[in-house]
Order: sequence, then C-alpha cells, then structure tokens
Amino acid sequence: MSAIRTIVDWLDDRAGVRELVNEALYESVPGGSRWRYVWGSALVMAFVTQALTGIFLWMAYSPSTQTAWESVYYIEHEMAGGWLLRGIHHYMAQMMIVLLAIHFIQVVWDGAYRAPRELNFVIGLVLMLVVLGLSFTGYLLPWDQKGYWATNVGTELASQAPIAGVALKKLAVGGSDYGHHTLTRFFALHAGVLPALLVGFLVLHIMLFRRHGLHAKDRNRAPDTTFWPDQVLKDSVASLGILAAVLALTVWKGAELMAPADAANPYDAARPEWYFLFLFQFLKWFPGELEIWGAFIIPGIVVAVLFVMPWIGRSKAGHLLNVALMGVLFGGAAFLTAQALYDDNFAAWNEKTEDNAARYEASQGFLDAKQEAEHEARRVIELARSPAKIPPTGALTLVYNDPYLQGPKLYKQNCAGCHNYADPENSDLRWAYLVNKNPSAPNLFGVGTRKWISGLLDPKQIVSAHYFGYAGSPFVGDGDQTDMVDFIQESLSEDLDNEQRQAIQTAFKKIAAALSAEARLPSQAEADARDAEMITEGRALLTGGLADLLESGTSCTDCHTFGEMQDIGSPVLDDYMSRRWLLDFLSNASDERFYGELNDRMPAFAPHDDLRLNQLDHKSLELIVDWLRSDWYRPSQDTDASETANP
Ligand code: HEC
Ligand code: HEC
Repeated sequence: MSAIRTIVDWLDDRAGVRELVNEALYESVPGGSRWRYVWGSALVMAFVTQALTGIFLWMAYSPSTQTAWESVYYIEHEMAGGWLLRGIHHYMAQMMIVLLAIHFIQVVWDGAYRAPRELNFVIGLVLMLVVLGLSFTGYLLPWDQKGYWATNVGTELASQAPIAGVALKKLAVGGSDYGHHTLTRFFALHAGVLPALLVGFLVLHIMLFRRHGLHAKDRNRAPDTTFWPDQVLKDSVASLGILAAVLALTVWKGAELMAPADAANPYDAARPEWYFLFLFQFLKWFPGELEIWGAFIIPGIVVAVLFVMPWIGRSKAGHLLNVALMGVLFGGAAFLTAQALYDDNFAAWNEKTEDNAARYEASQGFLDAKQEAEHEARRVIELARSPAKIPPTGALTLVYNDPYLQGPKLYKQNCAGCHNYADPENSDLRWAYLVNKNPSAPNLFGVGTRKWISGLLDPKQIVSAHYFGYAGSPFVGDGDQTDMVDFIQESLSEDLDNEQRQAIQTAFKKIAAALSAEARLPSQAEADARDAEMITEGRALLTGGLADLLESGTSCTDCHTFGEMQDIGSPVLDDYMSRRWLLDFLSNASDERFYGELNDRMPAFAPHDDLRLNQLDHKSLELIVDWLRSDWYRPSQDTDASETANP
C-alpha cells in the first residue's frame, strides 16, 4: 500500500492528480443519481469501443479497390476473433446513433440546453454530425456491392448541392470517377480526420459539462449525491447492458459482407444504413429538379433549426415548441423509415392486384435483387475459402471466372430466348427465373446426364417440348419428321409385345449410360466408374448390337458417327456433351460434325468476323459450357441438391 501511496504522492506533487480525480469523481449530482443521466457516459463508452476495435481493424484492413474487400473477408473469415471485432464495430456504430438520438431527446426534453449550456448543446450537435459522417464513410470501406452502390447514391447526391455541388462531389469522390480514390479518401476521413474532430469536440463537450455541472431535471427529488459511486454505478450498468446487446447482435447475426464491389454490375437493391433510410424515402417526394429541396434545402433548414433551439427555448413557449419540433422530427423519421421498409417489402406482405401492380413489381424487383446479391455473396465467400483462394487480381476475378455465377447470366442473354432451362421434376430450381414457358428449342437442364439422354430415347418424351417437340419444331409433325424422332418412335412402337419392349428399353438404358459416359460429367464420375460393364455393353449396342433387337435392323451408327467415321449427316456422338464437344458445338452447330444442313436456328457463337451475328468470346463459351455441365467448384459433396442439375 505504502508503495502505491508514494507513487501517488509523487504524481500529485507534480501533476495534481488527487485534485483531478476528486474533481472527476466527486462531482455533485443534484437531486440524486438517475438513470436518465446515463446516456452521455454510454456514448463515451461506445466511442472508446469504436476507437479500440477500429484500431485493431485498421491493423488488418487494406484500403485499395483490389484489397479492401479481400482484407475485410480476411478479418471476417480467417483472422482469429476478426468476426467478433468487426461485429462489435459494426453494431456499436449503429448503437451510437440510437444513443445519440436518446441523448438528444433527453437534453431537449429536460431543457438542458438553456443558458449557460447553449454552447455545449451546439457542440453536441457538431458531435452528432461527426458521428453521422463516420457512419457514412464507414459504410463504403468493405468495398462490397452494398456499400459501394449505396455510397455512390450519396456522393451522386452531393453533386446536386447548390453552388458547390460539383466541386463537393469531386472532392469526396477524389476525381471524376467513383473508385479507388473515393475509397482512400473515405478511409482517411473515417480513421483520421473525423475521429480527431470527434475527440477534440468531445473533450470540449465534457469540459463545458463539468464547468456548468449536471443539469438536474428535478433538484429536490432526492438528496444531492456525488458522481462516485451512485451515478457511476448506474452508468456502468447501462454501458454493460449496451455492450451485451452489441455482443448478442454480433453473435446472432454478425456483420454482413456482400460480394466485392463491381462497377459493371449495378446493385439496384442497395440501400443506405437503416438510420439514413428516412432520408432516402424523403427524397422520393422530390423527383427530378426538386431533388435539391429534399436533399439539401429542407434538411439544411432542419439542422439550422436544431442549432438555434437553445435560443428558441429561452421562453416556456419556446421550449414547448422545441419539444413539439423534436416530436415531429422523430415521428416523421420513424414514419418515413417504416414507409421505406414497407415499400421494399410490399410484395412479400401483399397479394398482387391490378391497382398495386406497379408498387408490387418495384418491391418484387428489390426483393429479387437482394436475394440474388445475397446468393452471390455466399458464393464468393465459398470460392474465397476454396483451396484456390483469392487470386492476386482480387476477389472480383473469382466472380468473373465462376461458371456457377456467370453461366446463368450468359445463358439468359444468349440462349434463354429459344431454350428452356427447367427441371421437369423439381420446380424448386435455383434458376427458376430461367424457365421459358414457351420454348422454341430443347430443354438444356441436365444435358448429357443419363436422365436427359434417356428422355431423348423415349418415344413420348422426344416429341415433348423438352426435346424435339418445342414450338415450331421442324422435326415433329405430319410426315416431316426427322430420322431421329421416327427412329425412336418406330423402335418402341405400340405393336411390340412386352418382352420385346422390355429388351429394347433395357438396351436404350445401357446406350444412355454409354453415351452419357462420353460427356465425362464430374457429377457422374462415380456412377460412370461403377457401371463400367453396363457402359461397355451400351457401346456395343450403339455401334451395331441394337440392330439385332430392332425390326428395322438399324442401330445408332447407321446414322451417327461413333468411333468410326460415317459419312452421314447426323451429330457425331464421340465425346457427346463433353466439354470439348460442347465448345465446338456452340462455336458452330451447323458444322458437318453436328447438325449440318439439318440445323434449325441454333446459332454459331464462335467469335467471327460477321458482327451482325451472335458471338461470344471463348471465355464466355467456357463459362456457359461448364455451367450446363454443372462443372463448378463445390466445397463438399453434400451441396444443396436443388442447385445441382446433374443428379
Ligand atoms: C435462335 C434460337 C436458339 C438460340 C438463341 C440458342 N439455341 Fe441452342 N438450339 C436451338 C435449336 C432449335 C436446337 C435444336 C436444333 C436442332 O436439333 O437442329 C438447339 C440445340 C442446342 C443444343 C443441343 C442439345 C439439344 O438439346 O439438342 C445445345 C447444347 C444448345 N442448343 C445450346 C445452346 C446454348 C448454350 C445457347 C446459348 C449460348 C443456345 N443454344 C442458343 C436454338 C437456339
Ligand atoms: C435414322 C437415323 C438416326 C438413327 C438411327 C439415330 N439417330 Fe440420333 N439423330 C439423327 C439425326 C438426324 C439427329 C439430328 C436432329 C437434329 O437436327 O436436331 C439426331 C440427333 C441425335 C441426338 C441429339 C444431338 C443433339 O445434340 O441435338 C442424340 C443424342 C442422338 N441422336 C442419339 C442417338 C442414339 C443414341 C441413337 C441410337 C439409339 C440414335 N441417335 C439413332 C438421326 C438418327
């Protein structure tokens, strides 16, 4: 004990610590300690939490367009305790906004802004603006789709500002383009300028608070007490409660990380953080030219009124007016927030009718885009975790090289106009939006699988819309049938007796297995290896054996090439639906090896000189082919079956 006392004495002699500590702890609390005074301390606690977690996040964060998302991914998914750190920082930031609102309400309600505390009220408002600035700049830093596009809206708005708008935007964005320099600037603001301002104003705020003493709501409520221990206890309990809430949110939900920002892929469902949502909704009232009213003039007036509140509140009537204004403000913000949420979720909560069609569709668009973005985010993280990891060019490369993400997009643009992509047995497919109700080409879901080929060799299915019975097909109809349809229907005609039918069906089953093995689908590798015998039999049937079973005495190789080159114009079945076969086929389906002259509209997609025609670069072709073949990275065997085309 005496050693400590010696040190304290020494410090006291030189720095007067005793007096400082006494002043800090034994500050008088007139009317006794109260729960309503805890908000200021809670805010200080929140800020200290943000500073501490922020510094540790800083140690792992790397602000550039090619590393920002990647480093946040690292923090969230690989760094020990990183998710906790980021989660606390994420939720405490939102908690700070809530605490600020409560603190503000309490101060105005209690009239704590009256002389001589006006200046401190003004400093408090400045602190509030600084915190909002911290939130706004922080939202961009993960450089994900959500932050990127939401902040883009914000900076775009800045350019509408009267007089200095364009300059302001240029300053914030760091040039004419929104991108890397925006990120570095926002980071400097978020981790440097704004925290420094916050600390400066916070010190002033607390100094002035100490100077005037606590504004007691009701001096005679209870005997006066001192800050320590009564109020400190209440403050600590409140702070711990808040910390516990933040921890609970972190454990329960965690901070979200969407897919990496992509300037070429606008995210329509981007929304600001929930506490800015009311502004977002408010702006909808001011379309086009009027926007500056919603974005600057009215908010500017509101903020100006806030700053003069202490002077308005000098009289009793003025104070009541302030309280009323505050009520309108918070009530209005709550209403607008609720409205924004309702608009966005309208389609989820209402039936579509004729009257609400436009509203319904806007909401549906939002919900779809959101779902798609969340799906994409999960996938990128899955890829980043794969053994291949994030390449040096950044995580966006993962997005662009992934058949699972790009295949459906390319398909939608280039193929969905004619083809269908639907699982006949499971309408719950992830790519339900690719279903074509009126296809004019075969169904491509599961091409090359045993099941798909078996369907083609089935007399009923081959003339269905899933195969050659699509709308406008030249292959089905009176007399004008192609040889393939004829062949299948005759082979399994009604006249057969049961035994014959069964023998032929078994043969077709083996043929389907053999033909499907040509595709070498990764998802069927196991089955192909297991059924090697059946496949050998199938090959024998295909190349002539079938003829013995059929009345027509034909076999597949009477028309098709398989193994030995035939000079007949039907698709070559060697390597049928393999990666190579499909790439060549898509390049030019009218080639001799494929449909030749029989081709019904299937375009040639290979890059060629004729600019008028459809064409795709090699990379896009590969992405579509890999997607059609369900050949994409999977973290483990047990993936969701509904997302896998090949059973
Ligand atoms: C203009 C309509 C049209 C477009 C666009 C189109 N196809 Fe086709 N495709 C067809 C038709 C019709 C057939 C069947 C033609 C035939 O048998 O002669 C076909 C056949 C195919 C086949 C052969 C398998 C089967 O079901 O018989 C594949 C694979 C295929 N298309 C893939 C694609 C892909 C991938 C795209 C987009 C990159 C695409 N197609 C774009 C019309 C189209
Ligand atoms: C009488 C001739 C003939 C016989 C026999 C025949 N096919 Fe075909 N087959 C065709 C023709 C012609 C096409 C092309 C139709 C078109 O243009 O879409 C075709 C198309 C196909 C296709 C679809 C190719 C594609 O990508 O669109 C497959 C698969 C196929 N045949 C497999 C077989 C198998 C397996 C057998 C034996 C069980 C067989 N064929 C017997 C003539 C025949």
